[in-house]
Amino acid sequence: MDYETKVLPFDRESVAEAAELLANRRIVAIPTETVYGLAANALDDWGVKNIFRVKGRPQDNPLIVHIASMKMLPPLVREIPEIANQLAERFWGGPLTMIFPKSDLISDTVSGGLDTVAIRMPESEAALAIIKKCGFPLAAPSANLSGKPSPTTAMHVYEDLNGKIPLIIDGGECSVGVESTVICFKDGKIRILRPGGITAEMLSKFAEVEVDRAVTVQPAKDERVLSPGMKYKHYSPKADVYIINAHGARFTDYCAKRARFEQNLVALGAGVPEEGCFMDYGATPEIQARRLFSLLRKADEIGAKTVLVEIPEKSGVGLAVYNRLLRAAAFRIVEV
Ligand code: TXA
Ligand code: MG
Repeated sequence: MDYETKVLPFDRESVAEAAELLANRRIVAIPTETVYGLAANALDDWGVKNIFRVKGRPQDNPLIVHIASMKMLPPLVREIPEIANQLAERFWGGPLTMIFPKSDLISDTVSGGLDTVAIRMPESEAALAIIKKCGFPLAAPSANLSGKPSPTTAMHVYEDLNGKIPLIIDGGECSVGVESTVICFKDGKIRILRPGGITAEMLSKFAEVEVDRAVTVQPAKDERVLSPGMKYKHYSPKADVYIINAHGARFTDYCAKRARFEQNLVALGAGVPEEGCFMDYGATPEIQARRLFSLLRKADEIGAKTVLVEIPEKSGVGLAVYNRLLRAAAFRIVEV
């Protein structure tokens, strides 16, 4: 154990303490509206390298740089397309990450060796306050151990990183619950590399939107994907997760039947009554997004061996839920 990890509620003093640690090259877990982030000074490679070490993150998976005002953007990038300004105006602070050509201030450690940088301005009051107090941008991946479901509460972060970091700022449960939408720009179009709280439908008011193939299709072993994060196994609890392509009674009958013969089976249904093997993961995509990671962690806690999940809608925020589930389930979909 390197540290006695402190968990402090978000207030003026804890923000000052976080900023002081960050200025001294330490890494700190901070709340955002999407998931908790593991933050370091984005302009200090030493701190950034610590993030990779603590998370056990592959070196070629780049980090998102978090800013608190539009003034912080120009020094970090070589160019700001007009559409990026429009999207920033409409969706920042919020769960949208945009890819820009990087300036020399952004190291290869942050960019994973790419010549681009991912930037977002969060909506979370706590995240904004910490970045402002620091005065420098924060590089922050999700504050889970690599491969585990992303943390949506301070307790999740504590479970994964207790003893490895000095401080977790507790801002309560994340309101979105899945990571930000990641987009890049190509030929005047918006390309979604990772779906999230800002949906394809919302973005399509600004330009034509394409959803990258890797969002819903398993990349081949050596395929070069635009967003390196998409190629790793992700979000997985210890249990084996399966997506069940059925709704309503067809879903519940299938799960109930299997539960009669299989021990430690959990079924996550959309708006189902919580009885027997069933847990409710929410009747709308927004609720499902908020609950998904937390329920996957809970399944582990209660010793589930198998988790069956009702297939989510593939539109709106549902696409983000589906994308995370596909990876948690290693792309296994059961036709019923
Ligand atoms: O909501 C979020 O985005 C959270 C909170 C903490 O802000 N952060 C987060 O970071 O999810 P992380 O590191 O878990 O995911 C970053 C994703 C990865 O899939 C990564 O490959 C992609 O963004 N990414 C980062 N920089 C990129 C770049 N230059 N080009 C393409 N994809 C990039
Ligand atoms: Mg992550």
